[in-house]
Amino acid sequence: MEKNKIKHSWAEPFKIKMVELLKMTTSAKRRKAIIEAGYNTFLLKSEDVYIDLLTDSGTSAMSDRQWAGMMLGDEAYAGSTNFYHLEEAVKAVYGYKYVIPTHQGRGAENILSKVLIKKGDIIPGNMYFTTTRLHQELAGGIFQDVIIDEAHDSANTHPFKGNIDLGKLDMLVKKHGPEKIPYICVAVTVNMAGGQPISMGNLKELRAYTKKHGIKIILDMTRVAENAYFIQQKEKGYSGKSIRWIVKEICSLTDGATMSAKKDALVNIGGFLALNDKEDYEEASNLVVVYEGLHTYGGLAGRDMEAMAIGIVESVSDLHIKARVGQVIYLGEKLRDMDIPITEPIGGHGIFIDAKRFLPHLTQDQFPAQTLAAELYVDAGVRTMERGIVSAGRNPKTGKNYYPDLELVRLTIPRRVYTQAHMDVIAESVCNVFKNRNKIKGLKMVYEPKYLRFFQARFEKLK
Ligand code: F0G
Repeated sequence: MEKNKIKHSWAEPFKIKMVELLKMTTSAKRRKAIIEAGYNTFLLKSEDVYIDLLTDSGTSAMSDRQWAGMMLGDEAYAGSTNFYHLEEAVKAVYGYKYVIPTHQGRGAENILSKVLIKKGDIIPGNMYFTTTRLHQELAGGIFQDVIIDEAHDSANTHPFKGNIDLGKLDMLVKKHGPEKIPYICVAVTVNMAGGQPISMGNLKELRAYTKKHGIKIILDMTRVAENAYFIQQKEKGYSGKSIRWIVKEICSLTDGATMSAKKDALVNIGGFLALNDKEDYEEASNLVVVYEGLHTYGGLAGRDMEAMAIGIVESVSDLHIKARVGQVIYLGEKLRDMDIPITEPIGGHGIFIDAKRFLPHLTQDQFPAQTLAAELYVDAGVRTMERGIVSAGRNPKTGKNYYPDLELVRLTIPRRVYTQAHMDVIAESVCNVFKNRNKIKGLKMVYEPKYLRFFQARFEKLK
């Protein structure tokens, strides 16, 4: 049992003003659809999905205020009013000096990697994220995982599995020299570990260490408010602090951040790069013109920047985040009570089922998580995604598959979209598949794209 078990004394801090009707299909239709999609849930049509837990990215329900903001779009090419609103929000809520909008998170990662990384540089991080690592590699960098060992064990209940192992970092610094390490990328929370947070204490130690060695800290702040919630709930000294206060403290310990605003910031599209260093900012604001658009719109419409500015403020409300993470925990506890093997502790943006333990008769080369995601879809139309060997891809030097310890299926909960009754239906479906798990056969990969293969790879069922 988790020590700081969070009670269900919350309700959604909103009421519903508009609904989108859902379509239910039959399992025969879904079986056909998943075969046509090459057993890849990314290749399903959304109209064939009942409850969509593919991602929490760009799938949030915007508030009436955000929608009203959309009507205030100033679609000027340069110097849009909405850009200045976004800049104000980033300064007020996160405290960074400079902000450059981008079309989404990976746009910011591209610019950042090009500005800070030289060929052969080492980029440590608390576990990899797919697009982040790829942009580091494309810029000539080499990613090195420095997360604590506990993060690679789905059953370990360490409360801050996103923490950096300073010993691992120190070994890299000693081996390569600090001049080879321009920055460390710190994700809050760590998506691939199961939405696991980093503690403020660890971040403070990291700040002291990196200061000594002249290494920057760049946040991947995609889910920073969720990370702040876990700090508030679990870390000594933070129970009386607001989410907004904690978020600002996290950012204050870093030199900049990339943001996919499609998550925490409650918008359907958008992101930004935030920096404190003027020279880095000037280079980035020049580069963004090449890849995204002028530095006052970065590939976004004015209305999107307005919705983002409002979403940033809404995202750090205590009531919002308590209900958001509370819903994830509600589903997780249901699954745990049914003995489904899930990543512990329950993370911020979804439940991660351990496919190795769910389907122990499959080897990792038979793609257990990819298989399980397909089976879950066929059972009740719940779309999830693989986070295991397919997502991990290949080592760019050797061309060999990475074999990650974590072989997970992610049930990602969109923000403000589904109700508790949906969570009950999802839990029942997972339980149903679990009962029949021994009959499930694995997959073989029949098409493998070069980049980020999990998005477009195709599979066939093993006989
Ligand atoms: N960093 C993290 C931690 C992410 O989860 C994502 C996206 C990105 C960066 C890239 O942002 O999609 O706006 O370009 N994660 C999505 C997901 C795709 O489903 O987890 P983006």
